[in-house]
Amino acid sequence: MSPNQAKPENSPHILVLGMGGTIAGLAPNPGDQPLRYEAGQVEVKSLLTHIESAVPEGVKLVSQQVANINSRNLTEALLSDLGEVVRASLANPAVLGLVITHGTDTIEETGIFLQLTCGNYAQILGKRVILTGAMLPSNAPQADGPSNLLDAIRWASTPLENCPGGIYAVMDGRGCMAMDLAKRHGSALNAPIQASPSSSVGLINPSWLWGVKAKEAAWKEDLPIPKGDEWPWVEILTSHAGARSETIALWLNSQVKGLVLAGSGMGGFHDAWRDTLVTAVKKGVALVRTTRTGAGATLTDIPEKDLDGCLASGTLSGPRARIALQLALNAEKQAQLAGKSLTWQDFFARIAVLPEIR
Ligand code: SIN
Repeated sequence: MSPNQAKPENSPHILVLGMGGTIAGLAPNPGDQPLRYEAGQVEVKSLLTHIESAVPEGVKLVSQQVANINSRNLTEALLSDLGEVVRASLANPAVLGLVITHGTDTIEETGIFLQLTCGNYAQILGKRVILTGAMLPSNAPQADGPSNLLDAIRWASTPLENCPGGIYAVMDGRGCMAMDLAKRHGSALNAPIQASPSSSVGLINPSWLWGVKAKEAAWKEDLPIPKGDEWPWVEILTSHAGARSETIALWLNSQVKGLVLAGSGMGGFHDAWRDTLVTAVKKGVALVRTTRTGAGATLTDIPEKDLDGCLASGTLSGPRARIALQLALNAEKQAQLAGKSLTWQDFFARIAVLPEIR
């Protein structure tokens, strides 16, 4: 067994997976303002010892360090590792639920990734996976990590009749579906919980956090987790005043498999890109359109007819649309290997409409 793996634990427990982040951060001078610190310094095992006395009676905790990074350095290979650990842990009858401590910078990507690859499995098994993090390092005087971690543990260990299985997130005393969590402020304590208003769970008031009834997700099949080195290369490009066709042309000489176009307003992109994007589609590059505004849906053929081969992202933000497109491209590859004629568009369309119908 590798030193990073938890010892086999056969009695019922909540598994807490550590990924790093500010929740595991340390400041050399915790009293300084503004605070300078390093994320991903403290082991998840040690974070748990600080909250031990407040953990609900009878809840046994087991920890496993998957990574200890600043989440801005999150890699696709690490997402694959995390997804595999989550799936294997969900399958373990002794694991009643999971908590993941994570950096808030890219918690948005991890949230959608886990929803699309493990969400259905968690729902079928009736187990909850709760993502959480913090905006202040673990040794800051007002550190928010301990209360977030406790909230996540309480939610993961709530008896099933109060809340269905699925992939959720909790920060600053409020919860939502993990795929709706996104950091929309650089430093505010509630920065990562600007959940999309389309969320069926929404921002949960602490008084009924433990009693929330989420609607059943319409998602009926998880997407395959790509092998660590098999993630298709997808980039996000932002349309802006003065955009140039060269920006797109540069990518045509690369191995890029997909482009997410973060357009202005309702997701429209600069006319200067149009002809080169047509060439990109002809070369087999997958195109998805989203909005750079940070809110609102990007709809098919709105405000103008879509370029052939370019799909609208629904309510998926740029970072989420990128993960969704990567998983859709990978799913297309797996389907073709299995002799099925499903395309990335089939998979992506299913993901992009999910926020509307869940
Ligand atoms: C990180 O994302 O790892 C650093 C920032 C944070 O957790 O808030």
